[in-house]
Amino acid sequence: MKLVVLISGRGSNLKAISQAFKEGKIEGKISLVISNKKDAHGLEVAREYGIPSEFHDPSIFETREEYDRHLVERIKKENPDLVVLAGYMRILSDYFIESFEGKLINIHPSLTPAFTGLKAQKQAIQYGAKFSGCTVHFVTKELDAGPVIIQAVVPVRPEDTEETLSDKILQYEHRVYPQAIKWISEGRIKIKGRQVIVEGARYGTLPVNPALEDF
Ligand code: GAR
Repeated sequence: MKLVVLISGRGSNLKAISQAFKEGKIEGKISLVISNKKDAHGLEVAREYGIPSEFHDPSIFETREEYDRHLVERIKKENPDLVVLAGYMRILSDYFIESFEGKLINIHPSLTPAFTGLKAQKQAIQYGAKFSGCTVHFVTKELDAGPVIIQAVVPVRPEDTEETLSDKILQYEHRVYPQAIKWISEGRIKIKGRQVIVEGARYGTLPVNPALEDF
């Protein structure tokens, strides 16, 4: 299992995934981390784990698609099994999405289809939702709306702020993202239309967030 991970910022999901590989919970490796931001802390995380990392500057390309064509060419050289968006805060062109269809996954800090787009945690607070959470999904051309691999539910308490809710959701992000990647690496995932079925997942046997097994 060979991954390329795209980041834009802090890189805490990158860290959780890297740690899962390091501990042998997932077999394989991250062969490359790419950032569209020069000062992304995630680039340091990559160095800490000895993973090759590169900054690719979008500002030297005229259009979104030109940048994405450049990235696709670079990523394809790695011949990855999976391309993982981990806090990659750039809209992807159709060209990019088509290039890795079925091999491109993302994590979003809400229970999709609720609260897609930016500041999902703030949207949940402002809406007055009583539960939110996070979603790992395959990426399709519709923003944050691809077939769902795994979700974790997080209660929203009256005293929660955008920051406290984000922190609570993040703890689950760090569990569900490695879990989803492990399932994919084990070939246990089948997609039937919008349904993602995980062979042998213990759905419904645990009281909360039932599909979380290993993380
Ligand atoms: C995470 O909360 C992730 O779900 C979110 O950005 C954060 C990145 O944190 N992604 C999105 O909102 C994508 N729509 P990290 O850099 O520490 O992993």
